[in-house]
Amino acid sequence: MISIDFANCLSSRVGAHGVDPAKISPGSAAADAIQSHTARLAKTRGTGWERWRELPFDPMKKDHLAQVKAAVKAAHGKFDNLVVLGIGGSALGNIALQSALNPATYNLQAPVDRKGPRLFVIDNVDPAYFASVLDLCEQQGGLGRTLFNVISKSGETAETAAQFMVIRDLLKKALGPNYGSNIVAVTDPAKGTMRQICEREKFTTLPVPDGVGGRFSVLSPVGLFSAAMCGIDIDALLAGAAAMDTRCSNPTLAQNPAAMLATLLVELGTSLGKPNHVLMPYCNQLYLLADWYRQLWAESLGKKNDATGNPVYAGFTPIKALGTTDQHSQVQLYREGPNDKVLGMIEVEHFSRDVTIPTGLGVDALQYLEGKHMSALLAAEKRATEYAFVDSLRPNYTIRMPRVDAHHVGEFISLWQIATAYAGLLLNIDAYDQPAVELGKQATFGLMGRAGYERFQTQVHGALGATEWVV
Ligand code: PA5
Repeated sequence: MISIDFANCLSSRVGAHGVDPAKISPGSAAADAIQSHTARLAKTRGTGWERWRELPFDPMKKDHLAQVKAAVKAAHGKFDNLVVLGIGGSALGNIALQSALNPATYNLQAPVDRKGPRLFVIDNVDPAYFASVLDLCEQQGGLGRTLFNVISKSGETAETAAQFMVIRDLLKKALGPNYGSNIVAVTDPAKGTMRQICEREKFTTLPVPDGVGGRFSVLSPVGLFSAAMCGIDIDALLAGAAAMDTRCSNPTLAQNPAAMLATLLVELGTSLGKPNHVLMPYCNQLYLLADWYRQLWAESLGKKNDATGNPVYAGFTPIKALGTTDQHSQVQLYREGPNDKVLGMIEVEHFSRDVTIPTGLGVDALQYLEGKHMSALLAAEKRATEYAFVDSLRPNYTIRMPRVDAHHVGEFISLWQIATAYAGLLLNIDAYDQPAVELGKQATFGLMGRAGYERFQTQVHGALGATEWVV
């Protein structure tokens, strides 16, 4: 199972830049706070915006697995390409699962070597990018052999709606009245614009359950359908998430990984001046999981007001980095720049493959590499960087993952989701809303001419109008 080594976050290692161990010991205020927050989370789990806690457990799990597997079975053998259309919480989890659990070369593999269709997750409206993926689908199998997985809880998100309108039109022209067989929509089971479209056009649909917000939805059909289509073991993923959830339901701080992660990061981020949180996997496969983490940590905790409405400007800036790559790009800053960061490294104990560096080059300066495994070099580089961070009094921790497989990725997802719930309570903010995202969405509607939002045309131009400050 995943473990977190947090010794380097403590003052015993990094002096005044670390947390005093007495502050997290049994009987401390932090330990008491976790006890009461755990009791509170036990009461709220499965209700309101905390329905995501129940995703890895029956009856939700059973229901979702049955629906997802039926949709995968119905699509089996019919498609060469799967294109996910979604954004934010309706795309980042899909990208993370695919990159963590299938080879980086997946889309380039021959069909017999792949466990499913090629996968593209288009989470933007960059027209050149969008068009190039559609071109490739046309060339590789054609639109008839391309399945579009439209994911939108609301159906109102401009980016996803625009993408959907384009592919619906293309499919209709290419396939005629049966175009709907090339669409699987994941949306609210009862309401919303996408739901209305699905009912009208009779698409296959899968649910984004009530009370499961975008950034907490990866373990629902939002993430599960594309993963299962590409051969990822979604049963193991949910089993890993459930196992971590059980560990993180423990009221004892020292035995609850999510509570400890949240306690340390909130303490370091607020009292000790480290509001920047770097997640640095030493594993390419996990790099895009850091994008998923960035949304979860940023959108959940970045809040102007606390639960009583007082301005607090809470939140931490999540940053992603890759070891060892970013040792040659970012570590100079991390060690000698402002001491305002917590460095979170991810270490994989057993890689699925290893490479031996050959002997026989005969150059003294490189002799030390001969006969060694590449995984040993990676591990040494990580350990050395950890040592260097401690040497410059930079708080850091290591998430240790025995191997990168569906079970451990499920554990990792659950760990961060529950840590986010604890951090929300510790900061006394609502971790489940995103009020600041609204203004930009509404101004976009205004600029694009949506009825009811016309006022934004004058407001935007008034605020950003012609200026001489351009060089
Ligand atoms: O976390 C969130 O709530 C957002 O990132 C949403 O997932 C994103 O805006 C997409 O929303 P929707 O699924 O309604 O299209």
